[in-house]
Amino acid sequence: MNPRLQLLQPYPFERLRALNAGITPNPTLRPISLGIGEPKHAAPKLIEEAILRSMKGLSGYPPTAGDAKLREAFSAWLQRRYGLAVDAGTQVLPVNGSREALFAFAQTVVDGSRPGATVLCPNPFYQIYEGAALLAGASVAFANSDPARNFAADWASVPAEVWARTQLIYVCSPGNPSGAVMPLDEWAQLFELSDRHGFVIASDECYSEIYFRDEAPLGGLEAAAKLGRTDFRRLVSFTSLSKRSNVPGLRAGFVAGDTSLIRQFLLYRTYHGSAMSPLVQAASIAAWNDEAHVIENRQRYRAKFAAMTPMLAEVLDVALPDAGFYLWAGIPGGDDVGYAQQLLAQYNVQVLPGSLLARESGGLNPGAGRVRLALVADEAECLEAAHRIVSFTKSR
Ligand SMILES: Cc1ncc(COP(=O)(O)O)c(C=O)c1O
Repeated sequence: MNPRLQLLQPYPFERLRALNAGITPNPTLRPISLGIGEPKHAAPKLIEEAILRSMKGLSGYPPTAGDAKLREAFSAWLQRRYGLAVDAGTQVLPVNGSREALFAFAQTVVDGSRPGATVLCPNPFYQIYEGAALLAGASVAFANSDPARNFAADWASVPAEVWARTQLIYVCSPGNPSGAVMPLDEWAQLFELSDRHGFVIASDECYSEIYFRDEAPLGGLEAAAKLGRTDFRRLVSFTSLSKRSNVPGLRAGFVAGDTSLIRQFLLYRTYHGSAMSPLVQAASIAAWNDEAHVIENRQRYRAKFAAMTPMLAEVLDVALPDAGFYLWAGIPGGDDVGYAQQLLAQYNVQVLPGSLLARESGGLNPGAGRVRLALVADEAECLEAAHRIVSFTKSR
């Protein structure tokens, strides 16, 4: 067996199940889960229609690079959304959801035979980054979130000797769980460090279309272009339909950026066998070419966040995030696991303890004392959950 499999940590939801094992949720209340960040709004009709129209495509193998029309849809969306000129022939690739792509990218980029091979992750973080790094033969270093800056990753805290051995860094903007969007000056600092040390930047942007302010979140490629780096050197962005279009079951997204990285990634993916089904390609073209359903979806999240944030702010340390669909809430007393367990037992509401999303680093777990609330259910259910959380927190 690959000995590196032993290094993988149990996924947070597995750990949550184990923590909940001895708990009987209050049977008089309907269960509400804000624990898992899985979109629950309905998928747009245009996706189903596109799939039904393209059934005959199933009788051939799809190319790993995707059909030209699909690649053009990615490139056209990047132009409309960010004003970018991205070449559909050489700078984009379809992926089967950003999760597999974030994982596979580390296998493509990391040279585990080089001494000290390191992948740098935010902390708390999307757990795939860590597993990808470990299976690629690297060790993982963390940049803890900074409470003073809206829980954005504190890249400035990373020691020089870590930067020197870093081969790949995962940026998550908008962040999960913080919702923080990385500003242009921080991108400039990361690009400068990447030029100095030669590491690659994977920019995970799957929450980019759910935002709460007038201005849409800055993208990694957009930041590069604004800073004159129109070749996107050493940078690849990861974008997904899962949250934007409420189709986590479709498994569809794309990557874009540095031509030579995309070429190597295509080579890896050809052997890995991760071509996108023609049905999913057809659905993707329809989805990326339509913004009306995205605007409507964003509006639904905005209504939920506008109603719930002030309610919860009465009892929790919480504020409207820049983007994403999570509230990252500080709880009184600091015991996030105990808080989540008691809330489930007494009020039948599941939330995710923040410490499960982070690793101990620099002598602390930066997720401790907070819980992540995924506002994915419909508005009435989310409001009901907010009422229960308020009652529970007041009663403690
Ligand atoms: C930060 C982050 N990145 C990537 C993903 C993967 O999404 P998908 O594979 O559905 O595109 C998720 C899913 O929850 C996520 O939270």
